[in-house]
Amino acid sequence: MSMKYDPAYISHYYDHYGEQEWNRFDLNPTNKVNFHIHLHYLQSFIRAHDFVLEAGAGAGRFTVELGKIGANIVVGDISRKQLDINETKVHEAGLSGKIIGREQLDIVDLSRFQSESFDKVVCYGGALSYVFDQADHALNELLRVTKKGGYLLLSVMSALGTTRRHLIAELSNHIAHYGKESIHKVIKTGELLGNVANGHHCKMYRWRELEAMLNTHECSIAASSAANFLSPEHEHGLHEIMNQSPELWEQFLQWEIDYCKEPGALDGRTHIIVVVKRE
Ligand SMILES: C[S@@+](CC[C@H](N)C(=O)[O-])C[C@H]1O[C@@H](n2cnc3c(N)ncnc32)[C@H](O)[C@@H]1O
Repeated sequence: MSMKYDPAYISHYYDHYGEQEWNRFDLNPTNKVNFHIHLHYLQSFIRAHDFVLEAGAGAGRFTVELGKIGANIVVGDISRKQLDINETKVHEAGLSGKIIGREQLDIVDLSRFQSESFDKVVCYGGALSYVFDQADHALNELLRVTKKGGYLLLSVMSALGTTRRHLIAELSNHIAHYGKESIHKVIKTGELLGNVANGHHCKMYRWRELEAMLNTHECSIAASSAANFLSPEHEHGLHEIMNQSPELWEQFLQWEIDYCKEPGALDGRTHIIVVVKRE
């Protein structure tokens, strides 16, 4: 039985998180790769003049990229604060003209939009991971507002990769603080709740769970990818490459794009990206 979705909790969390949301992709090379792979799929599936709903847009890292591609964008998010930051960042990028609307909304209820309103819908960075027992319903809504033949680009938190990177890396500390039972529960359910979540409640997905859920909807999988795979745990060497050898860094990003698509990599890191075609 999945945890009951609490919209007030998540809007409050992201109101409080504020500007950190804009900066998170720049914290280390792994997060840079994460950004780059998400961008790769935007650039592969979104075209100039597409009418796009970006749901859970947050501070606007991908709103700016959508604007640069030339899409016309309706920006949506459950957090008022994130929408305000989004407005500032898009304005600073000189792309306000690409914004058709900016609305506080919940992906669980998109009834303000008619069916098939958008050429493409983007829901990156895990909004689907925050709606717990309402995920199936939210997916239905995201697909309903996408035109038939159009694409929905999603990413969710990954259970295996996030557990490995954030829980197992400091297993004895975590067990001392939270107890073995709470770590066991995260591993069994993928639900990050209680003290161990450190305030960040979410559902982390295994690829096979996400795939099974998608298979019950009117869509087909067009692409799937981890958001990074090769980046090592100790990022010092990668940091040097990123700052000192732009050509090698570009090559590394290409290797990541290639490897991240492999079935054996999908669960491997913090996020799973999937692009589905609305049937
Ligand atoms: C991790 S941020 C991702 C932001 C951006 N899409 C990105 O990938 O950089 C998640 C965003 O989803 C928003 N969000 C969470 N639950 C949501 C919901 N049910 N409906 C709409 N937005 C939601 C949060 O407020 C937050 O801005």
